[in-house]
This record gives sequence, structure tokens and C-alpha cells, in this order.
Amino acid sequence: MNPFELHIPTRIYFGQEKKESFFDQLTEYGSNVLLVTGGGSVKRLGFLDSVIKSLEDRKIQVVLFEGIESNPHAQTIDKAAALGKKEKIDFVLAFGGGSVMDASKAIAGLIHDNENEIWPFVLGEPKYKKMKGALPVAAIPTTAATASEVTAHAVISNPEVKGKSPVSYPFMKPSACWLNPAYHTTLPLTTTRDGASDIISHVIENYLLGGNDSPLADRYSEGVMETVIQTLPQIEEDPENEDLRGRMMWASTLALNGMQVSGRKPAPFTLHNLEHALSGYNHDLAHGRGLATLYPAYLRWLWEKDRVRDRLALLGSRLFGIEHDDVNEASIAFISVFEIWLQENGLYQRLSDVGVPPEAFGDVADYAIKTYGGGKELSAAGSLPREEIIKIFEMTENQSAEFEGKETLHV
Ligand code: NZQ
Ligand code: ZN
Repeated sequence: MNPFELHIPTRIYFGQEKKESFFDQLTEYGSNVLLVTGGGSVKRLGFLDSVIKSLEDRKIQVVLFEGIESNPHAQTIDKAAALGKKEKIDFVLAFGGGSVMDASKAIAGLIHDNENEIWPFVLGEPKYKKMKGALPVAAIPTTAATASEVTAHAVISNPEVKGKSPVSYPFMKPSACWLNPAYHTTLPLTTTRDGASDIISHVIENYLLGGNDSPLADRYSEGVMETVIQTLPQIEEDPENEDLRGRMMWASTLALNGMQVSGRKPAPFTLHNLEHALSGYNHDLAHGRGLATLYPAYLRWLWEKDRVRDRLALLGSRLFGIEHDDVNEASIAFISVFEIWLQENGLYQRLSDVGVPPEAFGDVADYAIKTYGGGKELSAAGSLPREEIIKIFEMTENQSAEFEGKETLHV
């Protein structure tokens, strides 16, 4: 095993029954909260009033900020931070998906540091790593996708520069989160699928590129992936089933809390680098959908370059029972079966289907390299230069959205 440091400071409350305990804990953070929500779903669905009541019952004064976009805009975050400063809030409560949670962390940092703009603090900009602290953040996630409720990251989008880039600090990890599966039964099918794709990405990235040194990290990651692969089709059949929603939600939280990489070699987050450049180009593209679009092309590209075939084969054996003496056959078989799963679950399409046309590929590759590759190139078990990034993007254009049902998938 390789050396690592792990600190998971978030107190996690799971289940409807834990509501009172969660809100009781919030009283430790102060008496004036900035409650941050997204584009209106938690209000429309009738969830917001009871959260406000639980806060007010505890004499916590609520300042509400509504309107965080999917792929949260830097400019909206700046506005929310200005409101929080004016109202002298003590802590931030995020009630929404990854976009709301990420925005809340950034808002908490800006208020703590008495700063006005978040964009200069993101990776690739002058104040990167210069933030000093953040107000306490708590979160009630309403998507199963990002694990932002336990991570140090906040991914910020900026339509003015067609960019998307993270800020990341240990002090941004939420202090508490409440995972209530009931809030997930309303998630649209597409958002559910996008989230499942994101959860898989958080474990598969390092599984493939991080080497063989931590068998337990392998088993942990396989458990997360197997849960998602089995649970997504079940949710599609029974979307209001809280037990299934809870399973997916817990898989989401576990996928990016640090355990998944413990003991493996550090490795780049290549798919994420590429995807953030894609949804930076098109802010209407959901992160998980962008990742799903990249999977088949990226995995086939790795295979064609004869990279990590042993890891692909191991995953095929563990997830789908694919056994083959020849690692080359076993690894390509895994890719084919995983593609079928994507097809069967409505996650298989071209980049041009999701608003990134071929004429944009060069610009998107340039942004990925500038922001995530130090201006030189990306890496994925070896070099991933501009022309190869474009090749991966082009390979997605062979992915027909029309699934022909050519094989049956047995999980
Ligand atoms: O905006 P509202 O009205 O809330 O609607 C949202 C939004 O339209 C809707 N929604 C959320 N909960 C719902 C619901 N609709 C019905 N019922 C509910 N219970 O779902 C849509 C998508 O929400 P969003 O928050 O944008 O999705 P997600 O959770 O996938 O978050 C994506 C953002 O997180 C970043 C992504 O890059 C992207 O910006 N990530 C953050 C990470 C982190 N902090 O560690 C890691 C990830 O890799 C990722 O990069
Ligand atoms: Zn992700």
C-alpha cells in the first residue's frame, strides 16, 4: 500500500428519522443561516417549508438565497456571498444537488475571507490556493451524484469565459449532512441516470489509473460500482422506492470520500478534466451526462494504446464475471459489456448529441490542457496530448443513441 492521509470530518445523518438530530447539530454553528437552493425544485416539491420550519423552531434566523444554476455560475455565487456578508450570517446550509452544495462552499469561503469574487480563486487563476478559511457548511443533498456533501471541492462555472474549474480546500468539507432518501424520489429519470454515471466515475478513474497496490480500495470501489449498476435499472422500474434511492445515495457519498483511493498511487482525474472542459463549453450539459458520453471512447482509447488492460480485465471479472485467459480479450470484453449497460440505461450518445459539436473539439481540448494540464498535456497512464484528446472526442461520434439491443446483459 502507498502512504495516505484521510480526514472525513462530516457528521453524516442518514434517513428520515435522523432529521431532528441533524437540525439540532446545526445550532452549534450559530443562529443566522444562509439557506441556499437551486432553480426552484425544492420549493416546487414542497420540501423547503419544512426545512425552514426546522431551522426557525431552533431559533435559527433564515436568510434564503434561491437560484443557483446547474453548473453554478461564479457571478451568482458572488451575489449570494454579498447577501450573506450583508446579513452577517454564521453558517451556510445547502439544500439541493451538487451545484447548490458546491456554490454553498464557495459562498462560505468568500464570506469568511471577506472577498467579493470566486473566479480568481479557481484552479488556473491567480488566487488559486490563496483562500484562508470558510464558514461552516452543512448540506442536504437532493441528488445522488457528486458526493459534494463530504468532499473538499467546489466546481465553479463561468459563462463569461466558457470555463469550469474547481476550488478545493479541506476546510470546505461540510461539517454535517443529512441524507434523506425521500427527497430523491422526485428526481427525474435523466438526472438520476446522470448521477449514476457520475458516481461510477468517482471510483473508476483511480481504479483504472491508480495501480494494484490497494486490494481493499479495489473491493471498496467495486462495491460502489456494483451497487450503482444493479440499482439504477431498479430505480427506473420503481422511482419512488426510498430504499433503492437510499442505496444509490449512500453509494454516491461513499464514492468520493477518500476511501476509494486509500493506499493506491495518486493518479490524475482524467475523465473529470475532460468533462469539466466539455460542460465549461456548454453549461447546459450535466456533468454525469458528459462523463457517460466519454466512457466508451475513453476506455476504447486506453485499450487501443495498450494501457491498463489488466485493470480493465480485473473490473470485468469482478463486476460482470468475465473470465478469459487472455487479458487483451478480457479487457475489451469488459468495455463491450459496460457499453451495453450504458445503452440499456439511456447513457449512450455522441458529444454532438449533448451540445458539443465537432467544430468545438479543438477549443475544448485547449481549455482542458490550459486549466488541467499546466498548458502542456493531460495524462492517462501515459501522455494524453491535444491531438489524442480530440481523437477521443471524435470517437464518441461513433456512439449511436439508437440502441439496437444486440446482446443481453447479465450482472
Ligand atoms: O436547480 P434545481 O431546481 O434544484 O433542480 C436541479 C437541477 O435542475 C434538479 N434537482 C435536484 N434535486 C432534485 C431535482 N429535481 C427534482 N427532485 C430533486 N430532488 O436536478 C438538476 C441537476 O442538479 P445539479 O445540482 O446541477 O446536479 P449534480 O448534483 O449532478 O451536480 C453537478 C455539479 O457538481 C459538480 C459538477 O461539475 C456540476 O457542476 N461536481 C462536484 C463535485 C464535488 N463537489 O466534489 C464532484 C463532481 O465530480 C462534480 O464535478
Ligand atoms: Zn464527477
